[in-house]
Amino acid sequence: MSLTQLSSFIKLKEHFEQMKNIHMKTMFEEDENRAKRYFLSVADLRLDYSKNRINDETLKLLFELANERNLKEKIKAMFRGDKINTTENRSVLHTALRNRGEQKIEVEGVDVMQNVRSVLEKMEKFCDQISIGSWLGYNNHFITDIVNIGIGGSDLGALMVCKALKEYGNPRLNMHFVSNVDSTQLQGVLSKIHPQTTLFIIASKTFSTQETLTNAFAARKWFLDSAVNECFIAKHFVAVSTNKKAALEFGIAEDNIFEFWNWVGGRYSLWCAVGLAIMLYLGKDNFYTLLEGAYIMDRHFYESEFEQNMPVILGLLGIWYINFFKADTHLIMPYDEHLRHFPKFIQQLDMESNGKQITKDGTFVDYDTGPIVLGDMGINAQHAFFQLLHQGTRLAPIDLIAVLSKKGTLPKHHEILLSNVFAQARAFMVGKTYEEVCEELTHKNMPQTEIEKLALHKVFKGNRVSNTLLLDELNPKSIGSLIALYEHKIFVQGAIWDINSFDQWGVELGKELAKSILAELLGQDTQMKYDSSTKNLIELYKQKNQS
Ligand code: F6P
Repeated sequence: MSLTQLSSFIKLKEHFEQMKNIHMKTMFEEDENRAKRYFLSVADLRLDYSKNRINDETLKLLFELANERNLKEKIKAMFRGDKINTTENRSVLHTALRNRGEQKIEVEGVDVMQNVRSVLEKMEKFCDQISIGSWLGYNNHFITDIVNIGIGGSDLGALMVCKALKEYGNPRLNMHFVSNVDSTQLQGVLSKIHPQTTLFIIASKTFSTQETLTNAFAARKWFLDSAVNECFIAKHFVAVSTNKKAALEFGIAEDNIFEFWNWVGGRYSLWCAVGLAIMLYLGKDNFYTLLEGAYIMDRHFYESEFEQNMPVILGLLGIWYINFFKADTHLIMPYDEHLRHFPKFIQQLDMESNGKQITKDGTFVDYDTGPIVLGDMGINAQHAFFQLLHQGTRLAPIDLIAVLSKKGTLPKHHEILLSNVFAQARAFMVGKTYEEVCEELTHKNMPQTEIEKLALHKVFKGNRVSNTLLLDELNPKSIGSLIALYEHKIFVQGAIWDINSFDQWGVELGKELAKSILAELLGQDTQMKYDSSTKNLIELYKQKNQS
């Protein structure tokens, strides 16, 4: 049955009519326990979801919707290894990668945990060798620089975690991430490193991604220009891929290939060999603590009742805004500098997973699915685009993310930071009325005529929703839990929308067209027919670059 025909959905629609004009300020005034009641703690994460336009009835109906959509059974199916990625006929088992328990997880009758553990052991051994210096470069130098070449899921997770946990990083290792095929990025990195002391990780699930392979071949050439002998590649290039054959063809030594499996989605892959850069930088113990943090969230997601289930609640709140309030955006706003790359990571995770228009059984949806996910460093965004969030015409739910424990030695910085987080959440919620503005301006002795001109411009309607998500501390465990929280939130939404959150056919068309246009730009006549705009753009390039 279509989502919009479910009885809980119809009830939610009616309920929305009652809720849409209720101001959160009133709900707070009427219930002094609201903040306590709409609050959850899991592992090292604290979620205050009281500043949402909900009451107990909203939650009850949203849980009813989850039940009508068999969410519990769908969660079990994912953890069990059912082939829930139906268009690719694959299991979806990123949870197996951080499974710290003893239980078997089978795909086609084979326990995947054996492979998971054996690749982790191989990674450990390799990372230890780099760390203690028993793995040396071709001139017997220590490895000092790691360059991860990959894009999307083969880049963003490792980059984000390495940056987030840089205090835990090995100070002897400089980490570089190259994803853009714009040569500026690779050349910038190459200009800072030396072939004798650099290890390249070529990370690509498919080992066929144009940008990654172009960068990898350029890095290989740069390396061989100095090292000359191809046998040295084995000391300086490793691959992370599900496509062993292509990695071998590239020239990576068989022992240097870190395998993973097609049941791991690219954007869900930082927990396995795609996290090699993470393990190298943070060390194996911290890598395992990262897995542990995710595992705690996995167990919580699997075991907790919906009423206490953090990913379920976050997912359903998203449904409430997207499908009833018609919000089309979701903002991820970290306030901690370490989490600078978190919004970009979540953007891929969410938009590539739930940016779908077709249900699992092949009908076009008649409701909205995944939101446009945007985000940036919260404190900077306050001085840039928060204007629209406070006074614009659109409702854009926001996750404000911060770290509780004080850090750094500069006085007051942390307090200023957190005061802004809490103030923004309150400002979004309470707003400021016309009467309050007038009173304020009168106190400032502004003439009445001026007040009349200005007052409306200073009104904040409030009633703008946010979740405040606080990490006790920023450490491998809390980051692990935080990432898994969002993975599962996205799963919940995909389950309600009845879409496949684990394929990404939408990226293919652009890739295909780029291939034929590339041939045109390289001067090969492809006989392809283009629209007049594309033809014109190709022509502009040719004219500018005529030799
Ligand atoms: O083009 C999108 C995509 O396929 C992502 O899904 C993936 O994370 C990224 O490209 C990189 O793919 P690969 O790891 O196969 O190089």
